[in-house]
Amino acid sequence: MLSTNGKTSRIKVRDKFFNLYLEKEKIDRIVSGIATCIDLDYQGKNPLFLGVLNGAFIFASDLLRKVKIPCEISFVKYSSYQGMASGEKVNRIIGLNETIRGREIIIVEDIVDTGLTMAKLLGDLKAFEPASVKIASFCFKKEAFRENFTIDYCGLEIPDLFVVGYGLDYDGAGRNFPDIYQLDETQ
Ligand code: XMP
Ligand code: MG
Repeated sequence: MLSTNGKTSRIKVRDKFFNLYLEKEKIDRIVSGIATCIDLDYQGKNPLFLGVLNGAFIFASDLLRKVKIPCEISFVKYSSYQGMASGEKVNRIIGLNETIRGREIIIVEDIVDTGLTMAKLLGDLKAFEPASVKIASFCFKKEAFRENFTIDYCGLEIPDLFVVGYGLDYDGAGRNFPDIYQLDETQ
């Protein structure tokens, strides 16, 4: 469905409808803001970005292209979601390695929901003795958050409603939408 500005205001992903929540132009401005903060905070350093697959692959690639300081990137793969429910158990599918030791790490995540996935990653990272660890998350569901770590670079606080697009998926689908869409609860 197209709105007056030519945007698709309502999409269907698998069996659910989602409404436009955040347009790609706004996403781009938010990512630029985070990159500028990182450039300032890490002057003279060479941080290692650690993207959390699958969801963060688009945010990580946009962020990396805006950051101007010397940096590197690696990825880990965790999963906890099944359908639309954040799972109790977090599985690490591909892992961390020795390249972490002594490095300034910036974790790049698409969304922090309950915080379980990030808490598990933060715990796992300790064994590799990084010099420092900060978190950049594009979205943050503050109302659903159950942990107590700080998100150093938070793109946007969002309501506790399922979102897709910009790397976020519903059962593997919908990651390719450039804008972010929110579940239509009226369906
Ligand atoms: P937790 O609850 O561990 O969840 O903080 C983090 C992971 O779950 C995924 N997630 C979502 N994916 N729409 C999505 O497409 C959402 O609203 C959503 N909430 C959580 C995400 O992969 C994240 O890494
Ligand atoms: Mg994710």
